[in-house]
Amino acid sequence: MSHSASPAKPLTATACGPLRGKARPPGDKSISHRAFLLGLLSVGETRVSGLLEGEDVLNTGRACAQLGAKIERLGEGSWSIQGMGLGSLLEPRETLDFGNAGTGSRLMMGVVGGHGITARFDGDASLRKRPMRRILDPLVLMGAQVLEQAEGGRCPILLKGTSEPAPIEYRTPVASAQIKSAVLLAGLNALGRTTVIESEASRDHTEKMLTYFGASLTSEPFGAHGRKITLEGRPELTPRKIVVPVDPSSAAFLIAAALLVKGSDIVVEGMMMNPLRTGLLTTLLEMGARIDILDRREEGGEEVADLRVRHSELTGVDVPAARAPAMIDEYLILAVVAGFARGLTRMNGLQELRVKESDRLAATAAGLVANGVAAHIEGDDLIVEGGAGACPGGGLVATHLDHRLAMSFLVMGLASDKPVTVDDETMIATSFPTFKPLMAQLGAEFVA
Ligand code: S3P
Repeated sequence: MSHSASPAKPLTATACGPLRGKARPPGDKSISHRAFLLGLLSVGETRVSGLLEGEDVLNTGRACAQLGAKIERLGEGSWSIQGMGLGSLLEPRETLDFGNAGTGSRLMMGVVGGHGITARFDGDASLRKRPMRRILDPLVLMGAQVLEQAEGGRCPILLKGTSEPAPIEYRTPVASAQIKSAVLLAGLNALGRTTVIESEASRDHTEKMLTYFGASLTSEPFGAHGRKITLEGRPELTPRKIVVPVDPSSAAFLIAAALLVKGSDIVVEGMMMNPLRTGLLTTLLEMGARIDILDRREEGGEEVADLRVRHSELTGVDVPAARAPAMIDEYLILAVVAGFARGLTRMNGLQELRVKESDRLAATAAGLVANGVAAHIEGDDLIVEGGAGACPGGGLVATHLDHRLAMSFLVMGLASDKPVTVDDETMIATSFPTFKPLMAQLGAEFVA
């Protein structure tokens, strides 16, 4: 959580027998961050169940407490948030330390930007490298001031918000739910309407949750793949009960492991099926994955389903760039899966991967090559030549403080000829603290 590095903990995955059984991955990270933030912004008690208790989300919770929310853990995944309400936040005395969390820090910049308070934002070495201008630019248009920033608009950042943010119409320069959400959260306190236009639709959890808390918001199609979202400022936000559905980005590792390890047959329970999050599922089905979607139902305002996943013989595919927002965090594990498929997989339009927790485009290609998989980058595309059911393995993968790199290559090691070692497992705790026990429950083996 702080930017002083803790010692690296290498972890090795070795080939295992068939994965069997049922598992329920943890709550969705995006929704969990938003649960704390909307709890802070409404007056009264918000109750959350199924919250992801990963370091990223806990850092957002701590930041909300620094702004005045009273936060209490009632039991596993069950939390109570007593909010301060819109326009009534306290100025934090200490730095808001978001650790590794891009989403928490960027959404909170939106909250602070729309309030008359000043806050310092910081995080670990990974967060300090991530571009924040994309968030600060619209906030400055709304009247916030960036008092201090590291080179290139990076953390540490001292942001002075405004109690009267200007309602703006903003077109996001890249399809990013984080930019969209920061503008909408700042716009909550504006007198008037804030509009965000995105040319590719990104995840819509902020819009759904704001509406659920009583804000007046419209979202309409814009162009071929985009949305235009308009929010009425100064709503009365009413605290609600939030049930957090299973994170498809975490479920992805279990699904991939079952597809790759011979003889596997598992059920992943309660996976969120929001169409803006299921791009990986679409792609895996195109590759020939044996995934049955069972018992579609609603949980906490989202459609969820149980997925029966069996070992499959997969074929390489061309993944269109337009699908990127619906699977932006899943390309790493898809690249690993593609390493076992028959033929070429081409993943198009991955420029945003360069500015995630690490440069995921370069790091994924390097990890594949280190494990004997033919992979290369062409412009912003990643091309992987699969081993038709096999993958050499045997490599040491540099994880660059990136949880998803660690988990993706550990999954590779469960099915590759030789073990795969990741240089540091510690970041897994940011998004999927129960990764190791859940995988072990299905039959996977990791060696420290
Ligand atoms: C997130 C949005 C995505 C995603 C991140 C979570 C969110 O980032 O990569 O892990 O919760 O809004 P971008 O919207 O910047 O692509």
